[in-house]
Amino acid sequence: MSDKPNEQRPILTTRQGHPVRDNQALRSVGERGPATLENYQFIEKITHFDRERIPERVVHARGTGAHGYFEAYGKIGNEPASKYTRARVLNETGVRTPVFVRFSTVIGGKDSPETARDPRGFAVKLKTVEGNWDLVGNNLKIFFIRDAVKFPDMIHAFKPDPVTNRQEPWRFYDFVSQSPETLHMVTWVKSPWGIPANYREMEGSGVNTYKLVNDEGVACLVKFHWQPKQGVRNLTGAQAAEIQAGDTGHATQDLYAAIERGDFPEWEFCVQIMDDGDHPELDFDPLDDTKRWPEDQFPLLPVGRMVLDKNPDNVFAETEQAAFGTGVLVDGIDFSDDKMLQGRTLSYSDTQRYRVGPNYLQLPVNAPQDGARARTNQRDGQMAYYVDDAGTNKHINYEPSGLGGLQEAPKPAKDYHQWVEGHLGRYQTSRTLDDYRQAGDRWRTFEDWERDELVKNLGDDLRQCPEPIAQRMVWHFWHCDENYGRRVAEAAGVDLATAQALAPLPGKPAPHQHRDVPTYTD
Ligand code: HEM
Repeated sequence: MSDKPNEQRPILTTRQGHPVRDNQALRSVGERGPATLENYQFIEKITHFDRERIPERVVHARGTGAHGYFEAYGKIGNEPASKYTRARVLNETGVRTPVFVRFSTVIGGKDSPETARDPRGFAVKLKTVEGNWDLVGNNLKIFFIRDAVKFPDMIHAFKPDPVTNRQEPWRFYDFVSQSPETLHMVTWVKSPWGIPANYREMEGSGVNTYKLVNDEGVACLVKFHWQPKQGVRNLTGAQAAEIQAGDTGHATQDLYAAIERGDFPEWEFCVQIMDDGDHPELDFDPLDDTKRWPEDQFPLLPVGRMVLDKNPDNVFAETEQAAFGTGVLVDGIDFSDDKMLQGRTLSYSDTQRYRVGPNYLQLPVNAPQDGARARTNQRDGQMAYYVDDAGTNKHINYEPSGLGGLQEAPKPAKDYHQWVEGHLGRYQTSRTLDDYRQAGDRWRTFEDWERDELVKNLGDDLRQCPEPIAQRMVWHFWHCDENYGRRVAEAAGVDLATAQALAPLPGKPAPHQHRDVPTYTD
């Protein structure tokens, strides 16, 4: 807060640079007469105010951000990182890569309570010397669905009812009960892991499967994870309700206050690695984002650390206008064929051109760092703030040219070329479709108090659902683990025998059925 005496403060102006001599009154005809239309100073001020809000994010609207840095260890496990990737951000030790991170909840609006039971968004923008790398993930390492075409339906079912404007449990469970791939994520979200104590004491993960590519053009599959040095802490529903009664923004405040007092939160960056390929030997598909890669088979290998040490100077300019996307990768990190990742990659930059504007990448929070400065032949558009540096000849805003302008970057000696063939069609993703096993594993590995909370939360919700939905959910949980189903049935007041007798869902594989041959339509 400034404590400058009045005479030292800068003079207030309009956006045209004119000094404002009276900011207290409109121009009017006489003391009590009508205001006049040529009142430019007032019109500029009020019409700008009328446009202060941009659309909030269609999901993840409630969030908070911070700046910091990333440092690579230069190793992946005991090997040099360059064995797996040629991305300099992971190879070079002693380089501090600036980052901007935004944490969020998913479903609520921009000012909704941060105690919500919801996955937490964990979006990191790394401004590397080779351009930006965004890792847009969450705290739970998996997701509800594995095909991007289902995303708008899922979000509609989870958001408020278009008639009552309330998040209705029956809408959530109606969708979930018809989509068994959600069971693993539902088991996490309805447990205490669905309400992290704050943003500092939670994990992060890229969730989707990516590839690392090395100098030889050889790729491997990879998952990225952020492990908090602060540890993990979650809340019971009762603890969350108590916090929410007094504060709807406790997680924003917690992060801001920690950074202001110099208690900088830190995460270790880890990868899980798998050879590139189909992996028929596994009982899950490595491209299925509703499954975790078991850590005993695919250990978390530390590759670097991230520290958050600076709060934004302005929430709107930085946090609200920050634009993260899964398509923003650097050389040496590549897409996998994970269908969620591919769908997401279209969606982020599309919504940002609408939400922030077509020149959103010119904003300081989104532009690459100076060393990797953007030089394009893209021109103009709404709110173009500058013209990209066109090199030697400013007339040449096209390529190729014999006269000057920008040229293509040199190609790597060996690049990664994926061989792809197949029938064009709409496939039920996954060769190994078992949506019950990992949800059951989770149930069995939770601590007692976590299981008790999970059962209570599911019971409370299912009591508000029509009976057929509650019965179907009990049927699903019973197939995950018999105890899981029995306890939820008791908590929800559902007759277990009736639920057990339900036929499998039409058009879905029966629980624990593995599918060896892919099915496709169209
Ligand atoms: C935000 C789409 C799946 C994490 C968003 C936004 C859209 C979107 C449109 C708003 C972006 C903005 O306005 O700037 C999708 C689609 C998905 C999908 C179409 C699936 C097909 C996921 C998954 C995760 C995730 C699986 C977690 C791994 C996030 C995060 C944000 C976000 C963290 C907030 C980014 C920020 O802080 O600005 N998503 N999403 N999304 N999404 Fe997704």
